[in-house]
Amino acid sequence: MADTLTITDNRTGKTYEVAIQDGTIRADALRQIKTGDGDFGLMTYDPAFMNTASCRSAITLIDGDVGILRYRGYPIEQLAESSTYLEVAYLLLNGELPNQAQLEKWTNDITHHTYVHEFLREGMKGFRYDAHAMGKLVSMLGTLSTFYPESKNVRDPKVRHDHIIKLIAKMPTIAAWAHRHSVGRPYVYPDNELSYTGNFLNMLFRMSEPRFRPHPVLERALDVLFILHADHEQNCSTNAARAVGSAETDPYCTLAAASAALYGPLHGGANEAVLRMLRAIGDIKNIPDFITGVKAGNGRLMGFGHRVYKNYDPRAKVIKKMAHDVFAVTGRNPLLDIAIELENIALSDEYFIKRKLYPNVDFYSGLIYQAMGFPVEMFPVLFAIPRASGWLSQWQEMLGDPEQKIARPRQIYTGIELRDYVPIAQR
Ligand code: CMC
Repeated sequence: MADTLTITDNRTGKTYEVAIQDGTIRADALRQIKTGDGDFGLMTYDPAFMNTASCRSAITLIDGDVGILRYRGYPIEQLAESSTYLEVAYLLLNGELPNQAQLEKWTNDITHHTYVHEFLREGMKGFRYDAHAMGKLVSMLGTLSTFYPESKNVRDPKVRHDHIIKLIAKMPTIAAWAHRHSVGRPYVYPDNELSYTGNFLNMLFRMSEPRFRPHPVLERALDVLFILHADHEQNCSTNAARAVGSAETDPYCTLAAASAALYGPLHGGANEAVLRMLRAIGDIKNIPDFITGVKAGNGRLMGFGHRVYKNYDPRAKVIKKMAHDVFAVTGRNPLLDIAIELENIALSDEYFIKRKLYPNVDFYSGLIYQAMGFPVEMFPVLFAIPRASGWLSQWQEMLGDPEQKIARPRQIYTGIELRDYVPIAQR
């Protein structure tokens, strides 16, 4: 016998059988529950999607209670250990790891689309010297859409593929140039002899040397950080990408919208907020007062807590371990001691234990980024670059899902039912 849920409507005395599939009931199955012909039918109310699956997805699995993260079935720890970001991007988009020939073609295609139109470089001049790098990234993604009007043909798989390559290839270029603009340095063009992350470091940090050679430890660390940030199922920015993409908006504007969502301090802006918080704490001796303030509702312990993870974020574990490799090259970040002590105190404090608040991906990533020479404004940008492959995978999956339509939630109207317009002199 199929799993069903029996619902009795006390208003009418009627009983309904609703199918249970994959641990869910379909919200539209409740529409049949009506008090009469004029009744729209029962709806669900779920602000912030706390208990609603908005799609079927075969890309990323998270089990937040035990702290599991897998891309296409592969544990994040194995990918961080043995894979590369470009290989992971291929996996997310195509469902399988590439063979040697596929990886070479994929890498070659990405590498040969890293240049951006010169007009974009000129366009950077329009920003004020202190413009936030994320604002520049969002704008530049929107601008890129104007160069590729054909990308609007989102139902054409070839068009989609071409622009997925362009987007993954150009994200580091516009991100690096956003940084160079902030610091008033000349833009560095892509070096196609370097790896994806090696070239990104080149475009960020090269000065007068004829050939930039990234430090292999830092190049690999950045690649691992990119792997860890590539996808995270239906988070705020991915939901934004799916919602905006569901209107058949082109992928550049879709990613601009997703990046805008990522910018927020409760999402991708959290690593920047962690660094600012650690700086504000300033000394280990100030931690108890800070924790007391958080518990009293004066701000949050940034980098702690997660909507899905009610356990240690598996990405945070990889990053914490990797921090030592990075600090061996860059020198130890003095804020690390504050972070470790903060973590120890929070993990043994009743407030955090009761609410299952553990370090998330952002708690340690900012310390590494800072040690590698990135200014805090670049932190969310460093999140956005690899997340592009996740957003694009989810966008592609959404477009291929026959059950999906333009995203359009319902509401419970709480306003005034009807009133007549009042001329301004009588108000
Ligand atoms: N510090 C102090 N208290 C917290 C924190 C925190 N970081 N996070 C949650 N709480 C408390 C919150 O006050 C609430 O307490 P009470 O039940 O007494 O009202 C309880 O824990 C549940 O919190 P919530 O806000 O209902 O949980 P949520 O699922 O809506 O929020 C979150 C998740 C990530 C927005 C939140 O934990 C937070 O603001 N964390 C700090 C920001 C942060 O680190 N964000 C990065 C998330 S990971 C990167 C990503 O994937 O985007």
